[in-house]
Amino acid sequence: MKSCNCSPYLLPLILMVLCLSVDVRSQLTTDFYAQSCPNVLKIVRREVMNALEKEMRMAASLLRLHFHDCFVNGCDGSILLDGSDGEKFAFPNVNSVRGFEVVDSIKTALENACSGTVSCADILAIAARDAVLLSGGPSWRVLLGRRDGLAANQTGANINLPAPFDPIDTIKQKFEAVGLDNTDVVALSGAHTVGQARCLLFKSRFAGTVDPTLDADMAADLQSLCAQSSDDNATAALDRNSVDVFDNHYFKNLQSQRGLLASDQGLFSSDEGVAATKDLVDAYSSDGKLFFSDFANAMIKMGNASPLTGSAGEIRKNCRAVN
Ligand code: HEM
Ligand SMILES: *[C@@H]1O[C@H](CO)[C@@H](O)[C@H](O)[C@H]1NC(C)=O
Ligand SMILES: *[C@@H]1O[C@H](CO)[C@@H](O)[C@H](O)[C@H]1NC(C)=O
Repeated sequence: MKSCNCSPYLLPLILMVLCLSVDVRSQLTTDFYAQSCPNVLKIVRREVMNALEKEMRMAASLLRLHFHDCFVNGCDGSILLDGSDGEKFAFPNVNSVRGFEVVDSIKTALENACSGTVSCADILAIAARDAVLLSGGPSWRVLLGRRDGLAANQTGANINLPAPFDPIDTIKQKFEAVGLDNTDVVALSGAHTVGQARCLLFKSRFAGTVDPTLDADMAADLQSLCAQSSDDNATAALDRNSVDVFDNHYFKNLQSQRGLLASDQGLFSSDEGVAATKDLVDAYSSDGKLFFSDFANAMIKMGNASPLTGSAGEIRKNCRAVN
């Protein structure tokens, strides 16, 4: 008799609790592998350190891999899939993205420690964080629990990834499509404090007339660098002040017309940049701490781009191929 009074309330309550727990499970968490692979962070850190000892530029390359993964079908490891119809052969990636061997070595180490457990998409998220930290940049707690996608999307990579020739408004739209706002555009562009770019991607700034928003001495340097390479493969530092150090000098460069890509300098010098992004460039240039904290927040936001969770996708055994 007394328990009958409660029963009408019991079912909705159970359903509510179930719904809540389903909701919680679909979110990424920092301790996702606490039981299943407790050393995951240590293992990734060790492999990234080994890679940077061989070549410091790999920090930049690993950071970029996570970005190029997240902008295409969300952060699902799709960029890692081999095959001629893969994202690797999309225009923004071909002959450009690097670091796949490092991801392989991380995956091998993780398979040895806890087989079939850690996704390739999560490996990219952790490696990007470690790459930034080990280059002198900020750290953050990486959210985990992404699963790996079952297909690459080459068309998506061609459409979604920003090009250095895109107007700032187009770049903003491409970021908006993955849930990133104006602040994220400027903060994340600060990733160009590390790494290199090929002549192919900036030589138009001094072919014929020199871009009036490019410092004349820097234009002359770049012109002679690129003249030495008939195939446009020669590379210049994205931040010529400190190519391997993650700092806020990228923004100081923009203030003195020393951005390498048109899309870098445009944040400060273009009409759209003046309207939307220039104030942020000034703020990050004068306040490195603000840049670091906005960058970390933006990386977490980017890492949240439509992850596969629960039983969607899979945990790849080999990051280059679906199981
Ligand atoms: C805002 C729009 C962006 C454009 C137009 C852009 C474009 C480019 C281009 C053209 C290169 C040189 C590629 C080559 O030489 O083959 C490059 C390199 C790089 N990008 Fe971006 N990028 C953008 C945003 C980002 C973001 C959001 C990140 C990371 C959070 C990032 C990280 C990097 C890094 C680290 C490199 C150097 C890679 C290396 O040295 O291996 N970029 N980017
Ligand atoms: C230039 O880059 C392309 C693509 O990576 C490559 O096929 C070609 O051999 C490179 N040229 C030289 C001289 O390294
Ligand atoms: C590939 O990416 C494009 C652009 O984001 C999207 O419209 C399309 O649905 C994607 N295709 C697949 C099969 O996921």
